[in-house]
Amino acid sequence: MQVVIKPNAAAVAEYGAAIFIRQITQKPNSVLGLATGSTPVALYQQLINAYQNRKLSFSQIKTFNLDEYLGLAAEHPQSYRYFMQQQLFNHLDIKPENTAVPAGSAADPLKACQDYEQQILNAGGIDLQLLGLGRNGHIGFNEPSSGLRSRTRIKTLTKETIADNARFFSADEYQPHLSITMGIGTILDARKVVLLATGESKAAAVTAMIEGPLSASCPASALQLHQNAVVVLDEAAASQLA
Ligand code: F6R
Repeated sequence: MQVVIKPNAAAVAEYGAAIFIRQITQKPNSVLGLATGSTPVALYQQLINAYQNRKLSFSQIKTFNLDEYLGLAAEHPQSYRYFMQQQLFNHLDIKPENTAVPAGSAADPLKACQDYEQQILNAGGIDLQLLGLGRNGHIGFNEPSSGLRSRTRIKTLTKETIADNARFFSADEYQPHLSITMGIGTILDARKVVLLATGESKAAAVTAMIEGPLSASCPASALQLHQNAVVVLDEAAASQLA
């Protein structure tokens, strides 16, 4: 695991974006794994800027998102599909049919999980996977106690994650407690992984991920097993490292 420490969140986004821009330049038909949440937003803005400045085309790119709330349709403003449309896809020349997000409103969610794994395989696997980090060490919605070889499946969210994400929902709005998420095994199959973490609130999870034992109690520690993983931190997120 390569660890890169940058002075602030803007520099983290810039470093992460440069990795994506290099990947897309070198392999214009790359398969990208994408994340939602607050952390990747600045990186996505840099990709949009690069596209608008004609430095990059997404016309042959395929994407697979990590996760989706179970029970939210694509049009729901809190769905991760909606987030991706707003924050990235609507601003690029990417083909809609080349963007995949787990089907949160599928009639048969168990089958949707298997289908998602098959879709990733059919695309040739993920070249570059972007990750954020939960305060409890989750990656995707692989909460603590997730199997380290798990595949795409339905996962119950912990109280902590529900509380952390409550900021995106209004008080009277239904907030799902279940998700469909790529498994840790699915994530580890990506040929390269880039995890971004910023801010003091992530410092304990960052330390457990990098210095702690390999353990299902910190799902991100599974990245210790990956041959080509880069962790990009700001100084606040790195502040508890030895
Ligand atoms: C999002 C995801 C989550 C987030 C994590 C951090 O698709 O899979 O693991 O990356 O919860 O979220 P933020 O960036 O909002 O702190």
